[in-house]
Amino acid sequence: MTDAPASAHVTWDGVDLHALAERLGAPLYVYSASHIRNRIASLQTALRGTDHLICFAVKANSNRGVLALMHEQRVGADIVSAGELWRALHAGVPPERIVFSGVGKSEAEIAEALRVGILRFNVESHDELLLLQRVALAQGVVARAAVRINPDVDALTHAKISTGKAENKFGVSIDEARRWFAARGELSHVQLDGLHVHIGSQILSLEPFRQALQRVAAFWRELVAQGHPIASIDVGGGLGVCYREGHDHPIDAAAYVALVREALAGFEGRLLFEPGRYLVGEAGVLLTRVIRLKQGEERSFLVLDAAMNDLARPSLYDAWHDIVPVSGEARPMITYDIVGPVCETGDTFATARALPACAPGDLLMILTVGAYGASMASTYNSRPLAAEVMVDAGRYAVVRQRQSFEDMVAGEQPANHWETA
Ligand code: LLP
Repeated sequence: MTDAPASAHVTWDGVDLHALAERLGAPLYVYSASHIRNRIASLQTALRGTDHLICFAVKANSNRGVLALMHEQRVGADIVSAGELWRALHAGVPPERIVFSGVGKSEAEIAEALRVGILRFNVESHDELLLLQRVALAQGVVARAAVRINPDVDALTHAKISTGKAENKFGVSIDEARRWFAARGELSHVQLDGLHVHIGSQILSLEPFRQALQRVAAFWRELVAQGHPIASIDVGGGLGVCYREGHDHPIDAAAYVALVREALAGFEGRLLFEPGRYLVGEAGVLLTRVIRLKQGEERSFLVLDAAMNDLARPSLYDAWHDIVPVSGEARPMITYDIVGPVCETGDTFATARALPACAPGDLLMILTVGAYGASMASTYNSRPLAAEVMVDAGRYAVVRQRQSFEDMVAGEQPANHWETA
């Protein structure tokens, strides 16, 4: 995607990044539409001949421009809130391509999703199942539901993004799911005929997927034998991407799909996929300028104009992101602590990282920020949200304007209208 001949400017999907930063300022999120399309195509190619639906995990990147691109490629949406439902619908995603996951769906959210007629609810607790039945009954509709299985598998990823262990809040055990199906006849307005599993995120080995799928497959066969037809199996997301060149070795989409096919051999219903990071992670870079170099007593700090409010992953998960200069000039390597301007020590993108010597004003890019970057940003330290831009074969389109101070404080007001509740 990048080409960096000596002292030439680096391009992203054919767009000169220096020129882009000059025009739109920094920090700036830049997403390659070609890269996203290629990722969708590699999954779709691997899935050719299989009845399937890819539902993009909206939480990974909820920008309306990104969702519109997904929709254009016939990708649906995996949502976890009424806000994500709203975004998906407004991007044009039809309700019959939307699935709803999450442990805390409220009554209002369930009612809204039912009203618009989404494809399926991934139900995560018995309480939620009963609520779904109640709301569907009140609306006089039948809700399609899958039970989210917690297979008690270690996804071998960061603890904060592991979701498939028994100790995690997600899904229910196979024992509990078995009881739901046994009592299926009591659900007059819920069509419980799906299974769902999602064991975690940034998974770089096939083994956890294999274990989880084997457990789900065994349960599916048992259910069918007992006369409970299963119309869809949703295998979640979780495919990892490369954050560190030469270190992270992501799973190939074709190998992953082959594994799913093998584990679920004989399944004739529909396969649902909920990739987030895989589709958008590597498509995004964050352009940021060096504000200054600061020589501390013990370390050399490179202070950037991007901070933890723009990209939270390093401070939240100690996540590694490769950081490279946007120019191919040869310079001596220096070891820096790369930090942002926010007033917290945790506002650190990298510690003791070797980088070609930098000067104030230099443009750098933080790589692999297309997933869980802008969607997790905040205005902490009253730093307006960064702009986001889509690039596509030499052209660009702003998909989020840089927030103004007025936008940032919209809705806030002094407490001068006192009322009693
Ligand atoms: N399906 C469900 C039910 C999920 O909870 C998630 C992600 C996905 C699909 C998409 O997973 P992916 O394909 O992106 O791995 N903020 C963290 C990641 C949190 C993931 C939450 N759930 C990070 O920055 O690493």
